[in-house]
Amino acid sequence: MSKNLSARIIGMGSYLPKRVLTNHDLEKMVDTTDEWIVTRTGMKERRIAEPDEYTSDMGVMASRKALEDANLKPEDLDLILVATLTPDYVFPSTAALIQDALNAKEAAAFDFQAACSGFLYGLSIAKGFVESRMYKNVLLIASEKLSSITNYKDRNTCVLFGDGAAAAVISGEGEGYEISQVCLGADGNVANLLTLPAGGCRRPPTHKTIEANEHYIAMEGKELFKHAVRRMETAAKKCLEMAGMEENAIDWLIPHQANDRIINAISKRFLLSEQKVFKTVHKYGNTSASGIAIALDELMQEKDISSGEKLLLVAFGAGLTWGASILTRRLDG
Ligand code: UT7
Repeated sequence: MSKNLSARIIGMGSYLPKRVLTNHDLEKMVDTTDEWIVTRTGMKERRIAEPDEYTSDMGVMASRKALEDANLKPEDLDLILVATLTPDYVFPSTAALIQDALNAKEAAAFDFQAACSGFLYGLSIAKGFVESRMYKNVLLIASEKLSSITNYKDRNTCVLFGDGAAAAVISGEGEGYEISQVCLGADGNVANLLTLPAGGCRRPPTHKTIEANEHYIAMEGKELFKHAVRRMETAAKKCLEMAGMEENAIDWLIPHQANDRIINAISKRFLLSEQKVFKTVHKYGNTSASGIAIALDELMQEKDISSGEKLLLVAFGAGLTWGASILTRRLDG
């Protein structure tokens, strides 16, 4: 009998656009201050893609790094998954565009959408495909060009979002980070708290929807804040319980990078010291699905993670959706 596979991330890469949009730049665009943005969100700057730089382009850049890190070639890939709420087109999928750009001829490709929880939903999809032996090597990409759906005249939202991408190669063997547990959730009953009102079949784009700014992110920040803290805490606790682990077994927390105050509230509930919480929110803002994946890539590069160490990832986003995942460092191949 063949031994059980345990899906693991065997390579990672990320890509951030060069252009930096600082709080001081935003002060010139809307009625805001550096002080308000820093105290309410922890953000100092974010990256913005060029007008002709798209979600697929950023995804390709991150994917090339992830493939190199995994020591694999594009033709080794069996499946390409893209988590995004800013696809290049409604169709074809951004995953198909990336498959072509990488020349990953053997790979199936599709997009899926779970907003800011997308990377964690993707880990679960990839784990299922790998451990069922349907596919050997899966490339999971989170890429967002949120600047394309952000209203730079609305101070409530425009200070929060940025662009960027990250990619992970997931396989059943090799040195890396085992996806030990994933726990997902959703509540469509409060979907109205964070939406892109027009552009779908319910409200196809018209002059009227454009005039009403319905092609931009609409958000009820205060209400979302409460859900974010509660849902992420519950998801993380459930994930630990499913894994049969105590809270103090966690070596690193990588939360969704939406707001420093949300991150601090979660850290406090898990009694984690600041040194154990990995943040990028100050330099990249909220990049939706990409945020947690970019942070994970930077943590892997910057910290010396030893065998057996456990990372807890926890996310929350539109839908509403949420999720948590435990990754375990494996050096044994
Ligand atoms: O990633 C998906 C999930 N997203 C989230 O989880 C986001 C969750 N929400 C948040 O992070 C916070 O609610 C925000 C950062 C969006 C807002 O912070 P807040 O402390 O909840 O502020 P608020 O919305 O209650 O606004 C307080 C005041 C208001 O003025 P009044 O009505 O008290 O006079 C706003 O108009 O701050 C004002 N305000 C601003 N002032 C200066 C809102 N945005 C700005 C701004 N600069 N950019």
